[in-house]
Amino acid sequence: MKAIAAFVLAASVAALVTPAVAQFAKPEDAIKYRQSAMTVMGTHFARLGAMANGKTAFDARQAAGNAVIVESLSKLPWAAFGEGTDKGGNTKALPDVWKDSAKFKESADKLVAEATKLSAAAKVGTLDSLKVAFGSAANTCKGCHDNFRAK
Ligand code: HEC
Repeated sequence: MKAIAAFVLAASVAALVTPAVAQFAKPEDAIKYRQSAMTVMGTHFARLGAMANGKTAFDARQAAGNAVIVESLSKLPWAAFGEGTDKGGNTKALPDVWKDSAKFKESADKLVAEATKLSAAAKVGTLDSLKVAFGSAANTCKGCHDNFRAK
């Protein structure tokens, strides 16, 4: 019984954290979710940027910790861009997210790949490796925002 309960619990936790099955009651909920994920990702990404750009002292442990968070969060926003979430709340997502969904997905996949590389680079523990990976990831953020987010 206990083993079954533990298994069910593990399975439901896995389901909860699998972005692809994320469900939202209202478009506003999805919009709030994706904006929140972007905001938290952006906060940790900015901490890496401050180190990469020499605005704060490089700290290998901090860098690795922030990069792991960015890596995890980079996977979350995309499931919240479902059909019908183009309007509502205070969304800044442009209609092209849905009109050119293949390109949007490509850009999202690119970020997930870049964030994985960033995390690996941060674990190397040198400022130089962080700088290169940060710059490349930052270009991916900018590229998508230029195409798919209102100013
Ligand atoms: C695949 C496209 C894409 C990529 C890649 C992307 N973003 Fe975004 N981002 C968006 C869109 C679209 C919005 C607007 C969402 C909305 O308002 O519904 C947004 C919004 C944001 C916001 C504002 C959230 C709010 O509260 O309004 C921040 C901050 C942000 N992104 C940070 C980042 C950072 C940092 C990266 C890179 C590490 C990144 N984004 C990568 C598409 C992207």
